[in-house]
This record gives sequence, C-alpha cells and structure tokens, in this order.
Amino acid sequence: MKDIYILGIETSCDETSASIVKNGREVLSNIISSQIDLHKEYGGVVPEIASRKHVELIIPVINEAIRSSGIDKDMISAVGVTFGPGLIGALLVGLSAAKAMSYALNVPLVGVHHIEGHIAANFIEHKTLEPPFVSLVVSGGHSHIIECTDYGEFKIHGRTRDDAVGEAYDKIARTLGLGYPGGPIIDKMAKEGNAAVQFPRVHFDNLDFSFSGLKTAVINYVHNEKMRGNELYIPDICASFQSAVVDILVENTIRAAIQTGLGKIVLAGGVASNSSLRARMKEEASKKGMEVYIPSPILCTDNGAMIASAAYFAYVKGRKSKLDLNAMANVSLEKIAKHA
Ligand code: KG4
Ligand code: ZN
Repeated sequence: MKDIYILGIETSCDETSASIVKNGREVLSNIISSQIDLHKEYGGVVPEIASRKHVELIIPVINEAIRSSGIDKDMISAVGVTFGPGLIGALLVGLSAAKAMSYALNVPLVGVHHIEGHIAANFIEHKTLEPPFVSLVVSGGHSHIIECTDYGEFKIHGRTRDDAVGEAYDKIARTLGLGYPGGPIIDKMAKEGNAAVQFPRVHFDNLDFSFSGLKTAVINYVHNEKMRGNELYIPDICASFQSAVVDILVENTIRAAIQTGLGKIVLAGGVASNSSLRARMKEEASKKGMEVYIPSPILCTDNGAMIASAAYFAYVKGRKSKLDLNAMANVSLEKIAKHA
C-alpha cells in the first residue's frame, strides 16, 4: 500500500504547531511554537495577542515541519487542520494557511475537531491501540468522558457543567500567586505537600463533572486562613486540591468503563500530563483489570501531530472538507462529519 503523509496544523489556542505524520502513527516532524511567555504576564491567554502571533509564526512553522520531516512537499497526501473548537481568531489563522496549502498542493483538506485530535495523540504513542475505548479528555477548555466507538466516531457520556479542569488549575494558581499555566506548577508543588485539607468532591447521578465549587472552596480557604493570620503552606493546598480533582476524574472514568463494558481507558489533553492523574488512573484501572493508555507529555499539549493523525483516520474513511470550511468556536464532537 502507498504511504500516506499528512500535514497537520493546530492553532486553536496559544500554540502554533505543524507536523508531518506518516500513515497516521509515525511522527516525522512536530514543530510546536508556544506563546506561553507572551501570555504569562496577563495570567491567561489573550485572544487578540494569540491571533497576531499565529499570523507571524504559521508560515515559518509549516516550512520547518516540512523541511525537518525529510519528505518533499509534493509527497503530502492531505492537509489536516483544527477548525474548532477554540479561539475563533486563532483558529482562522491555521485554517486559512491549511486551505492555501491544500489548494496549492492540490490535495484534500480535512477539518479536524480539536478533541478528536487530542484523543488521536494516543494512536501515535500506542501503535496497536484501536477503538472502541473510553476516553477522559481534560484540558484548559474541556473535561469530557467520551466513548470512542470507531475512528472519528464519538459518544459523550459526561462533561463539566462549569469550569474545565485545566481552567480550575490555572485560576487556583493565580490565586496562590504561582503563575501561568497553573497545571504544571501545582502538579510540582503537590509532590512536596500532603492532602491535609478536605475539599469537596462533587458527584452527579450521571458522569458529569463540576469544578467551580471546588475552585471556590480552595479560594475561600486561602482567604479565610489569611484573615485569621495563619501562614499558608502552599504545597499542602496544592496536594489537597489535586487530590480532590484526581479522585473525581478517576472515579467517573472507571464508572464509564464499567457502564460501557469497555476495558480500555485512554487519557488525553493537557491535564493528562498530570503525574498524580496518570499514576492513580493506572492504579485504579489495574485493580479492575482494565488497561490505561496515555500519551507522553509532549503529545498531551496542543500539537500538529495529533491533528495529522486524526486527519489520517478521517481521510482513509473518505472524510474531506470543502475549501469554504469555516472556523467554529464551538462545534459538536458527535457530528464532526456534518460540520467538517
Ligand atoms: O490541551 P492543552 O494544551 O490546551 C487546551 O486545549 O486547553 O491544555 C492546557 C491545560 C492548561 O490549563 C494547563 O494548566 C493544563 O493543561 N496542564 C496541567 C498540567 N500540564 C498542563 N494540568 C495539571 N497538571 C499538569 N501537569
Ligand atoms: Zn487542547
């Protein structure tokens, strides 16, 4: 069979990234230009700044992805690109570049859903992984429990009713004066502390999440302790918050695996880098005889390779987008083919 090379482009938030992936699972290049330093001083991503930086970086990043892959651009079979969800101005930059590449190379354009991309990072990391499986997708914008029934086919079983997990990490880090992004800093600090404070864990009858009450509880705890004149021991607060988050994420994911009868659990998204989540999920799943798949941290954050992989599986199933595909700030994961 002829090898298929996909150019993948991702610009939905604050990473400008492009990659060449061979046959959906082999990364030939994955260039990621992070804007974290630009947004740090504002304590979060500023959409307008992100869009402008993407405009500056997108062409050099794509050129570098092709150059360092070792293939000639004429060997590219299709261009995959995140068309949503994400910051609309940021998405439009990647999408416009992808359309131009698709038109110039005379190859199909494949619109990819950002969450579909995060999940596909696992197909790169785990060469024999195939659907069906249950996936926990946790990032700065999403906290979803998803059943992946086939490549590109999804059923959502649970989602956050308010904040996303990564968002809660980032907001708490800001309250504690730890900087941005909060996830990696809190994860590191938690290792030096004990989960001494009992923060609330919210349970629903279904598999939904809620993190805003937990976030408020942590913020209130910090304010109350300060008012009482007590000294704060930040590592304990981080460990206590993280323990509450991980408890609920692991519990709901295992419940989903039991309910669907699927013994394979796949983690995805930026928060899947979290050391405690990775360890606890493996521990609890192994007690139930379930397998856990997690991408290495570089594939958990936003990157072009995960988009190229998702585009490959869509492409071989015949899913192609028209050149009038628009960027969408919000778009359903269950009906990708209808929108892409
Ligand atoms: O997937 P991602 O790169 O971008 C979005 O699609 O949102 O995820 C970024 C989020 C940020 O909120 C960041 O704080 C969080 O992932 N994150 C972590 C860790 N590393 C990144 N959260 C918890 N623990 C980590 N080690
Ligand atoms: Zn993401």
